[in-house]
Amino acid sequence: MSKLKVMTIFGTRPEAVKMAPLALELARRPGLEALCCVTAQHREMLDSVLDIFGLRPDFDLNIMEPRQTLSTITSKTLLGMEEVLERARPGLVLVHGDTSTTFAGALAAFYHKIPVGHVEAGLRTYDKLSPYPEEMNRKLVSSIADLHFCPTAANRENLARENVTQGVFLTGNTVIDALQTTISHFFTFSDPTLNALDYGQRKVVLVTCHRRENYGQPMASIMTALRRLADAFPEVELVYPVHLSPVVQEAAHKYLDNHPRIHLIAPLAVDEMHNLMARCRLVLTDSGGLQEEAPALGKPVLVLRRETERPEAVAAGTVRLAGVEEEPIFQLASTLLSDQTEYDKMARAVNPYGDGQSCRRIADAIEWRFGLRANPPEEFGA
Ligand code: UD1
Ligand code: UDP
Repeated sequence: MSKLKVMTIFGTRPEAVKMAPLALELARRPGLEALCCVTAQHREMLDSVLDIFGLRPDFDLNIMEPRQTLSTITSKTLLGMEEVLERARPGLVLVHGDTSTTFAGALAAFYHKIPVGHVEAGLRTYDKLSPYPEEMNRKLVSSIADLHFCPTAANRENLARENVTQGVFLTGNTVIDALQTTISHFFTFSDPTLNALDYGQRKVVLVTCHRRENYGQPMASIMTALRRLADAFPEVELVYPVHLSPVVQEAAHKYLDNHPRIHLIAPLAVDEMHNLMARCRLVLTDSGGLQEEAPALGKPVLVLRRETERPEAVAAGTVRLAGVEEEPIFQLASTLLSDQTEYDKMARAVNPYGDGQSCRRIADAIEWRFGLRANPPEEFGA
């Protein structure tokens, strides 16, 4: 019997973190032929993740340009995928999340009448401009996809409200699978600054900020709040691995350079990031992935956005929306840095996003839908 060809398509760092463990799981299944295509919408930040997981793509579109626009990412992916899909002829394409690669990858598969599976399906803010353009990307992919792998029950309910009820599986988020492979008690950082920090005595605040809707004034306000925090709390060491986007680099260096306790460093390899998160005191971020990872590690998160499509950890009490204005960010972070009771209320390890079994469930669901397995997987949380 010929094997079912399953092609994963991804391009950015977060997609890679969440798709690499799945690509490896698919490759272990005897009934499947796993193919991996990267657009390289991100180059260095993608390659770093591929290295950590030991994953070698079969196809690489190498599309990244400095200061690329949404149109160039989308059109280069669409055109590049044409040849790849015609050559490889997969029986199923898997895309992840909500980036431009995700949308264009799904659209390319649809143009070739290839079924699409959407990993991390059903997240919504119901504001098409925030996150921008991700909310629209994921809605469009829900319209194209045949299989929808939802991390949480709330994600599945979101899809049901849009009448997407067929081919929906509740799997948990593969990011928790990834996290379980990277954390080590005896980890040594490659950056001497991170090794030298006293994580017991100092209050290490881990920051990331990169979202397009935060470009401009919101980012300026966020950075100003960060500098005020470092000034106000002498025990704080602020560690910010700065995204390689030139817009983000410019903002971070403009507002945060030349401070003895603000460490602007290069993007971290994912194992370094996870181990830093496991040791820090507090996380301030506009990242989607960090909002899922930090709660699993018992770290309070202040989200530097106006909304979130990940309400589960907010409900569990480990994540709070801080917004994008200087004063509330400063006040909320100050409370967590100075009030142990308030800190303890938030610093509880919760795992609403997964149990480390998501990749197995997704692979099982695929095998079941294509007649290679008798039963569907059990649901996450069941
Ligand atoms: C993209 C995704 C966003 C995701 C984020 C994760 C879209 C529209 N946005 O946004 O959903 O949260 O990735 O980080 O798909 N760059 C490099 N090297 C790299 C990566 C980026 O130099 O390894 C620079 C390039 O100049 C590039 C710019 O960063 O043009 C922006 O990258 P892009 O993928 O367009 O946007 P992100 O903000 O990273
Ligand atoms: N990450 C990383 N190094 C960094 C910053 C983030 O490995 O310097 C990881 C992080 O742990 C998470 C993912 O990248 O797994 C999140 O990516 P990002 O914040 O760029 O995108 P988002 O999740 O917001 O789409």
